[in-house]
Amino acid sequence: MNSRHLVRRFFAAIRTSEPREEDADWTQALLSPQERPLFDRLPAHDRRHAIAVATAVETELGEGCEKRWLVVALLHDIGKQQADLSVVERAFATIPILFIGRQKVGRWTAGYCGRVGKYARHGEIGAEELRAAEGSEDAAAWSEAHHNARPTWAALGWPEEVIRALDAADNA
Ligand SMILES: [Fe+2]
Ligand SMILES: [Fe+2]
Repeated sequence: MNSRHLVRRFFAAIRTSEPREEDADWTQALLSPQERPLFDRLPAHDRRHAIAVATAVETELGEGCEKRWLVVALLHDIGKQQADLSVVERAFATIPILFIGRQKVGRWTAGYCGRVGKYARHGEIGAEELRAAEGSEDAAAWSEAHHNARPTWAALGWPEEVIRALDAADNA
């Protein structure tokens, strides 16, 4: 993730508009009744990001795109919600994550730093939430893995083009 990407993401995040109705309907059709509440509680900018990732994955994979990859894309960041950080606080939270490291920051537990720690651990938190809700195991696995080092992704056993599409769409 480069600084231009982060600046673009910040300005997209401060827009408060809801996703388009047809996109919202599309997500509802893809998600199971157990998954929908986890997605629907996200702020509008997180839902717009998830829809943008899923749309890009669908375009990239074309005919070979299975529904499960769209669900994975839609649910990859649901754990961010537990950190309860504003858009500006999230922007500041990326600084220690970039300079100290996601793993170390993820061990912070007290007070405001604890919320930054949760933000750093959003992948693991999202995976726990999805498994507790009996949501997609694929989505839980990608939530857990998506900020880990790229070489670890091979352990998922997924087609290379799927992983490439998910990663590229998330960091576009
Ligand atoms: Fe993420
Ligand atoms: Fe993301």
